[in-house]
Amino acid sequence: MLSPVTIGQPPGRCAGSVRNNELMTTTEAPYIHPTASADEGAQIGAGTKVWHLSYVRSGAKVGRDCNLGRNVYVDPGAVVGDRCKIQNNVSVYVGVTLEDEVFVGPSAVFTNDLNPRAAKEDWTVTPTLVRRGATIGGGVTVVCGVEIGEYAFVAAGAVVTKDVEAYRLVVGNPARPVAWVNRDGDVVSRASERPEDGVLKA
Ligand SMILES: CC(C)(COP(=O)(O)OP(=O)(O)OC[C@H]1O[C@@H](n2cnc3c(N)ncnc32)[C@H](O)[C@@H]1OP(=O)(O)O)[C@@H](O)C(=O)NCCC(=O)NCCS
Repeated sequence: MLSPVTIGQPPGRCAGSVRNNELMTTTEAPYIHPTASADEGAQIGAGTKVWHLSYVRSGAKVGRDCNLGRNVYVDPGAVVGDRCKIQNNVSVYVGVTLEDEVFVGPSAVFTNDLNPRAAKEDWTVTPTLVRRGATIGGGVTVVCGVEIGEYAFVAAGAVVTKDVEAYRLVVGNPARPVAWVNRDGDVVSRASERPEDGVLKA
């Protein structure tokens, strides 16, 4: 399980936001839809598209050639790798790291506070790490403090409460392993033992 990091304040507030590629840090401008916003100090990689009503805050890092759908929010300190696809209505909060080529289905929920109270001044960010190539299905909830392994697949609607092994398909609430998938996301085995790398990485 990943270790929590304590901070004294909620993620930084923005002084204002800019639209349409101003102040981006890359030379080949990403596309920011006119209804979307990116704060000064947001890092957005070349070729990335940020669609309607989405918002990338200062201190957020979004890699190259990503697709951020409608109403996607990326918090200060959150990290999105290269070639990720984030579908509509997803918030990527501080503490969440998505490595390269991660797919996040519509309305999936990340969390970053295991013990939230509205009136507490201090709170603890508990991280979530999603490894390269993993898929998070639509409507999934990821309870923070977990690592989702490379090319793992979280079925639609699951609630992830524990680490997920690489190439594992997990299903349900709480999410339990039911199969193994390959890099294309196809089920290749329903046995409990991990198949050989040649099967998984084909
Ligand atoms: C899990 C998934 C990958 C299918 O895996 P699979 O093992 O091939 O599933 P099958 O269709 O063979 O079904 C096997 C069993 O799992 C159940 N099942 C399938 N998807 C499920 C889910 N998301 N949650 C719970 N159970 C599920 C099926 O009902 C079936 O149950 P049964 O054996 O009692 O009949 C797929 O259903 C899924 O969730 N895909 C993600 C879709 C998504 O979120 N897309 C986002 C972009 S639009």
